[in-house]
Amino acid sequence: MQAYQTYIQANQERFLAELIEWLKIPSVSTDESKKQEVRRAAEFLREKLLQAGVDKAELCETAGHPIVYAEKIIDKNLPTVLVYGHYDVQPADPYELWDSPPFEPVIKKTPLHPQGAIFARGACDDKGQTFMHVKALEMMLHNNSLPCNVKFMVEGEEECGSGNLEPFIRQNKERLKADVILISDTSIIANDIPSIEIGLRGLCYVEVEITGPNRDLHSGVYGGAVANPINVLCQMIASLKDEKGRITIPHFYDKVQELSAQERAEMAKTPFDLESYKKDLGVEDVAGEEGYSTIERTSIRPTLDVNGIWGGYTQAGAKTVLPSKAYAKISMRLVPHQHPDEIAELFEKHFRAIAPKSVKVEIRFHHGGFPYVMPTNSIEYQAASLALEETFGKKPIPTRGGGSIPIVALFEKELGLKSVLLGFGLDSDAIHSPNEHYGIFNFLKGIETIPLFYQHYVCLKKGA
Ligand code: BES
Ligand code: MN
Ligand code: MN
Repeated sequence: MQAYQTYIQANQERFLAELIEWLKIPSVSTDESKKQEVRRAAEFLREKLLQAGVDKAELCETAGHPIVYAEKIIDKNLPTVLVYGHYDVQPADPYELWDSPPFEPVIKKTPLHPQGAIFARGACDDKGQTFMHVKALEMMLHNNSLPCNVKFMVEGEEECGSGNLEPFIRQNKERLKADVILISDTSIIANDIPSIEIGLRGLCYVEVEITGPNRDLHSGVYGGAVANPINVLCQMIASLKDEKGRITIPHFYDKVQELSAQERAEMAKTPFDLESYKKDLGVEDVAGEEGYSTIERTSIRPTLDVNGIWGGYTQAGAKTVLPSKAYAKISMRLVPHQHPDEIAELFEKHFRAIAPKSVKVEIRFHHGGFPYVMPTNSIEYQAASLALEETFGKKPIPTRGGGSIPIVALFEKELGLKSVLLGFGLDSDAIHSPNEHYGIFNFLKGIETIPLFYQHYVCLKKGA
């Protein structure tokens, strides 16, 4: 460990400078006009992997953005760790809310990051976290301490649903053969409270279109006599939750796994300060399903949220119009054992049923994903736990995260492999939001912890 600390200290300026170069590339996967930039980000990573010392690194073409694949095989009889990450990022909008341009990284101190944090889109999610693995490998190869084989699979479409990763995995099962998947794309509770996410929520994402009259109408001439699709849509959406914060779609909760009182009591011990949570978000109160704590609401309970809603006149001034159409994007976060396709069906059936005759409903389904939970008694979890305990000086707490990494459940189904979520972000790092950042402490701690995971994993695997 001492050798790693020395190497990190001697090289940290370069590590940061390299990451900053990568963050300057606006690899927004959902934006067609950024296609070349996304590829440039993939090329950059390939280059850095080669410099770190992998045997080979290539861009694998897909119907969408390329997947970066690399490997370092030292001995076929040793275990293999498959590192997964993503080099694509969310759109940076709204630009005007960033204190500095999203693709011109700057380092600034914050109360939670007294050592400084890099501010840029993708700093934490997931370029910064993926880059820790590249530097950890460079360090292990430099110190001649790599204890196993390593493969990298870093995709460029995670933020838009990983649509081309599934066929890639199916077609490359041999190449992707490994013993465990290692992912840094989640968060810890705090920089002095290490934790490991043992759960991810699934996702069902739909877009609805409500059509009223066949054209926009004068809201005085027709208003009051013809259904306004925006009013109708708002009413329909409002009815999707009752006064107890429960989702009203019939059978929505049928398969939800209820936790035992003991499991809930264990969860309630997770350090959490509601007052600072509210303060951080600038809200007077939290809101959610009755009978569940904030931690439970964002981890073991499913939810439904409107992500965007539009229609009618939204420009400056006032235009009196009764619009023809209204739209909304709605996400449902799922928990074990909800099935995204079944939930999509239930949603569609219900949403059509509650629509008045005065409008037409169209529903489009976007990407979905299965929830995931990993057992804490697995050697995968134990190895991560031991590694974090060494670098943080405290045993990490298992947590269940609210976000989704749909590909994790697929890894289990297609490759039969468990994923370890060894993430180092903080929930307050503003991923997907303006002013996304990643703590330098977190970045360096990650680089220091990753090699220890390898060591413990190889050791435990040998004993198993
Ligand atoms: N890294 C996040 C997921 C995440 C964040 C998990 C924080 C746990 C804690 C990932 O990049 C992401 O944003 N996933 C999307 C799903 C995807 C299908 C767009 C999400 O959760 O919205
Ligand atoms: Mn991510
Ligand atoms: Mn993300």
